[in-house]
Amino acid sequence: MVKVHQKSEGSYCLGIESTADDFGVGVATFDGEVLANKSDSYIPAEGGIHPREAARHHAEVADTVLQDALSKSGVKASELTCIAFSQGPGLGPSLRTGATVARALASYLEIPLVGVNHSVAHIEIGKLQTGAKDPVTLYASGGNTMVTAFESGRYRVFGETLDIALGNCLDVFAREAGLKHKKGLPLGAAIEQLALKSGRLISLPYVVKGMDLSLSGLVTAATTALQKGDCTLEDVCYSLQEHAFSMVTEVTERALAHTEKKEVLLTGGVAANKRLQAMLKVIAEEHDAKFSVVPLQYATDNGAMIAWTGTLAYRHGLVTPIDQSMVKLRWRVDKVDVPWIQ
Ligand code: ATP
Ligand code: FE2
Repeated sequence: MVKVHQKSEGSYCLGIESTADDFGVGVATFDGEVLANKSDSYIPAEGGIHPREAARHHAEVADTVLQDALSKSGVKASELTCIAFSQGPGLGPSLRTGATVARALASYLEIPLVGVNHSVAHIEIGKLQTGAKDPVTLYASGGNTMVTAFESGRYRVFGETLDIALGNCLDVFAREAGLKHKKGLPLGAAIEQLALKSGRLISLPYVVKGMDLSLSGLVTAATTALQKGDCTLEDVCYSLQEHAFSMVTEVTERALAHTEKKEVLLTGGVAANKRLQAMLKVIAEEHDAKFSVVPLQYATDNGAMIAWTGTLAYRHGLVTPIDQSMVKLRWRVDKVDVPWIQ
């Protein structure tokens, strides 16, 4: 990314999200108003995400989602100031499809391209929508689980999963338990509903190592417990949630104590979970910190978060020349310049 020029207020950024199973397009003003946020999700016939099938889905729906977002926003393509896209981290085929659409649009419209870090975008949309200014953030999704906070010019990672992400932990167990992926109901949400029907805690592995945590053994143990048959699916869902959410809450609390920040923000797809929200609220209150959770439509992957973060970057002169716009599959949050934060 290179520094070019500043931009005045009253302009529009179109953001394209395509890191994994969602293809999303959002339009945001430079003042932080989201004018449109449209998406279409790839749903695997069975099992987890197949990267090439997800990419094919994105290519097939791209024009419809783009047109829907533009028409909802009331902004003409010719009025756009810049095109932002998720440059990483994520799945290569999915990322490349979104990047190709973004490059084509920016070239055709002769406007700048802005490569956005997907993890930073989850944090920035959370801050925009909740008013949090300088939070300790738990970003928990299907592909990421990390506790971050801004310190010395970057979002620093205070703790993270050593293996699978929190959402993935729930999704893998759900598939092992035979739960089906329904449109509009993520597997994590299906587990949340089942967990509400039990209060019986069975013992499962609880692995926090320093500031990091591990979830893969938990999934295996939960699956084994279910197969043994001396507890119900509801009991295992409840216990899985209690263990996994306690781990991420413990790490978040440690980061809060260490940084002495006064806000806690929950973002990413798993932010929709009410039990996780409740646990984090308790630790935030114990540290006199304000707890906020990103609104549901901005919790899962969405184009609006890319558009908004694109405006922040662009306003600070960061644009991405086409020849530097290759996707970055493992682009860590602590490697990203965030000059918009003082
Ligand atoms: P990333 O690229 O940021 O890792 P992602 O592709 O996993 O993102 P998100 O949309 O941010 O996408 O998160 C999806 C995850 O959120 C899935 O694992 C899903 O099961 C989980 N999820 C959604 N709703 C709930 C819920 N109510 N409770 C728990 N988990 C949920
Ligand atoms: Fe995401």
